[in-house]
Amino acid sequence: MDGEASTSAPANATEQPDANDQVITPWDVKGGADGRIDYDKLRRDFGCAEVDDELVRRIERLTGVPAHPFLKRKVFYAHRDLSPLLDAYEKGEPFYLYTGRGPSSENLHLGHLIPFQFTAWLQRAFRVPLVIQITDDEKALWRSLKLEEARRLARENIKDIIACGFDPEMTFIFSDIDHMGAGGSEGSAFYCNCLRIMSMVNCNHVRSIFGLTASDNIGKIMFPAIQAAPAFSDSFPHMFGAKKGIRCLVPCAIDQDPYFRMTRDVAQRMGHKKVSLLESRFFPALQGENGKMSASDPTSAIFVTDTAAQIKNKINRYAFSGGGETVEEHRAIGANLDVDVPWKYLNFFMEDDMRLREIGREYGAGRMLTGEVKKELIGVLQKMVAAQQARRAKVDDAEVARFTTVRPMPDLFAGARARA
Ligand code: TRP
Repeated sequence: MDGEASTSAPANATEQPDANDQVITPWDVKGGADGRIDYDKLRRDFGCAEVDDELVRRIERLTGVPAHPFLKRKVFYAHRDLSPLLDAYEKGEPFYLYTGRGPSSENLHLGHLIPFQFTAWLQRAFRVPLVIQITDDEKALWRSLKLEEARRLARENIKDIIACGFDPEMTFIFSDIDHMGAGGSEGSAFYCNCLRIMSMVNCNHVRSIFGLTASDNIGKIMFPAIQAAPAFSDSFPHMFGAKKGIRCLVPCAIDQDPYFRMTRDVAQRMGHKKVSLLESRFFPALQGENGKMSASDPTSAIFVTDTAAQIKNKINRYAFSGGGETVEEHRAIGANLDVDVPWKYLNFFMEDDMRLREIGREYGAGRMLTGEVKKELIGVLQKMVAAQQARRAKVDDAEVARFTTVRPMPDLFAGARARA
């Protein structure tokens, strides 16, 4: 989801959409009439449950660690079947995590980091194994990237992802192009599951979930099976043996929900449990919620490669302010926090809850000025990006191989069992 043009009909293709309706598909995100996304409506339309305080407290109780800010602040705000997964975990039946990325740009931006930072936290908190799918095939099909280019981007992105801090003993990262069918009996288990799924889903079904048309290339019709397969544990015999039915939790942005509706549709016939999901809101562009972060427009987003000076410049120049037009007006009526980008970004990345509340109160009342809030944000982001860059600098080819090699991974659930 980073703002490519869509050639496809909306996901709810069965109804005739109004030009003003919000349209959210895995490859296009467009807000409603005012350009903004109605997240509650989206969650209800998709049929997901809400992450409430009780669920957050339950996760804290089960893991024994305080909730990540993304959970506490409901950045991850929607879920499917999280409760049965937690019930099972509590009884000593662990699960594995699955997330992914379509490598459409050379470097990640802040929005891309969100699911990976959160997944790294989930892995540490629950002590569970993780698979990360890099869908270079998907980007080749949707963006008409050359296959060599898609693979190159995959390799670059894998380094940025590793720098988010995953446990190499418990994490397997794979490019679809490299892994599909490779590795003898090991690798082909994955392709076999893709084929099983393909045989269970017909064209009408995929077209109605994804809004594809008969003039889309045939790869797009087939691809959803490839994104579904990692949700089934026997796709990874080097990790889980031939065991079926190990539960799986997918943290992702909510635009990926259509893929996993299809995945859940076939689960029973695959002999597996339905995958559980934890789904996030989108990270807004610097220009505001109705803008789009795009890797091809460097002024729309902050990238993991940006220098401290670039971060400062971008925030000061481009971050949309909900403050008053003049200082007098601002002092009188305060900032509109609903549209203010520096405030929104702080809610994602400022860890200190007390300071965050204080800024919201002071800025909302007009006692703090936009410039002062931007200064706080610049400090937070410079620190976070510098730490990301320092970890990235240490990721060499050997480190990549530690995560991407098909290798026996024994005792993956020992940590979780000890915890539960
Ligand atoms: N389709 C996703 C993208 O374009 C990549 C992806 C594959 C993914 N598997 C996933 C994302 C599982 C989240 C969870 O970025």
